[in-house]
Amino acid sequence: MAPWILRFAVFLLSCFLCQQEAQCLDEVLRLRTSLLEKYQKSIRPVRDYRDGITVHLNVALRQITDLDEKNQVLKTFCWLRVYWKDEYLAWNETEYGGISSIMFPSREIWIPDIYLYNNVDEQSDGGLQPGTNVKVTSEGEVSWLTPSSFTSSCKIDIGPFPYDDQNCLLHFGSWTHTGIQVDLQNVSDAADLSDFADNGEWWLLGMPVRREEKFYSCCPEPYPNLKFSINLRRRPMFYFFNLVLPCLILLLINPLVFYLPPDSGERMGFCMTILLALVVFLQLVSESLPKTSDNIPLIGKFFAGTIFLLGLTAMANIIILHLYYRRPGSKAVPPVIRKIFLVYLAKIFCVTKASDCDEKEKDEKDGPEAFKISNPFVDVTQMFPFGGSAPNSPEPGSRDYGTWDCSGRVRRKEPPRVTFNLEAMQTNSLIYLKEILRSVNVIVKDIKEQRADENVELEWRDVAMILDRVALFFVIMATVGLSMAILLFSGL
Ligand SMILES: *[C@@H]1O[C@H](CO)[C@@H](O)[C@H](O)[C@H]1NC(C)=O
Ligand SMILES: *[C@@H]1O[C@H](CO)[C@@H](O)[C@H](O)[C@H]1NC(C)=O
Repeated sequence: MAPWILRFAVFLLSCFLCQQEAQCLDEVLRLRTSLLEKYQKSIRPVRDYRDGITVHLNVALRQITDLDEKNQVLKTFCWLRVYWKDEYLAWNETEYGGISSIMFPSREIWIPDIYLYNNVDEQSDGGLQPGTNVKVTSEGEVSWLTPSSFTSSCKIDIGPFPYDDQNCLLHFGSWTHTGIQVDLQNVSDAADLSDFADNGEWWLLGMPVRREEKFYSCCPEPYPNLKFSINLRRRPMFYFFNLVLPCLILLLINPLVFYLPPDSGERMGFCMTILLALVVFLQLVSESLPKTSDNIPLIGKFFAGTIFLLGLTAMANIIILHLYYRRPGSKAVPPVIRKIFLVYLAKIFCVTKASDCDEKEKDEKDGPEAFKISNPFVDVTQMFPFGGSAPNSPEPGSRDYGTWDCSGRVRRKEPPRVTFNLEAMQTNSLIYLKEILRSVNVIVKDIKEQRADENVELEWRDVAMILDRVALFFVIMATVGLSMAILLFSGL
């Protein structure tokens, strides 16, 4: 007995509930049809056509999809919140079963023709696409929340790149209605950023809104518009690690070229390799920047400065190598250059010279001595006062030395047992000595010429090495200056 009673009860209850729901649905349907019966969605919903509609607009920025510096285009994804009052969409709650709000597809009712003025999307005209529902309260308050992605133009100032701030505008306004017909107002003094998804390339500093009334030459009425300005600051780490740091390292190793010995022949190769690497880097940077000439980015200036410095280094190296490899027989160092380089700069830069600047004086001192040699050995006997063996002759068998006799023949490994007739020896040895003297003089002259030549070479080499030091000094100064400048700008 109990089961069928229970079943019956459930049946009755469900019938009752269905009845209730049907009644509710009926109410909504009735309300909808009564509201839309005479509704014209193309007509501004005011009873008196002279009245204005106040449209409140707010933007919740969801994401910055892309900021294309090269084409100066910003892509954003936003939620738009539009509020206005529709005088035809109001009803008496008690007459319609206490329904306080109702949804409409936005296609079915009038919506304000708000457009993004600085739209650059080829596919869309920048207008808000109807599609999502609108919520209408019994007082006729309409709120329309719609997601939308915008492609807007954004003037990009790449001056301090990669330490730059950018200000991009989202510029909204009614396309056809004047400010009297549709008055556009901001809801708050900044956009809603509570749902913003962080961007890897940019920090979002803020998004204030500004309301402006613009007068166009066509019409006397004002056209209000809202300008949401997206304030962005670039996160420079990526560019610092990928562009600035390698360039900085190349810049810092550049002065080391002056520590390579010129004889190694590696100097020019080193210079050119660094220069080439930098040019490749510069190519990379310029590819990611707008092709504009009204402002050179900071990083471009840094690269240009670095390349200029490397070019100067290469030039200095060529000059230094040219001076270093002066061939024998080249002109002597001009006195002015000798004075500047070998005297003053050598002292300032503490260079130890290979050539001897005082060589001249020494030569002059050596002169008379050399002349002494040419004096005939009148008193040869003094050399061998005892008519004996030559002084300091080696001990027999101590070394592989030969001993000599007067005929000039050399007998090997014999004890120094030389006896000679002094008279014969004197005449003979005089002849020999004169011959020797003549030869020695020739040799001395040759050696002196050679030494003079060598000295000229060495002096040029010194000039080269001092120039090397001077160049090193200036390159280091310039390097430090450039690196400090870029590091200060990086805020590191
Ligand atoms: C709503 O309708 C009820 C009953 O028809 C009426 O008594 C009431 O005054 C109406 N309210 C308004 C605000 O018109
Ligand atoms: C609209 O924006 C202005 C700044 O342009 C601000 O002073 C004003 O308070 C804002 N209005 C509202 C309702 O917040």
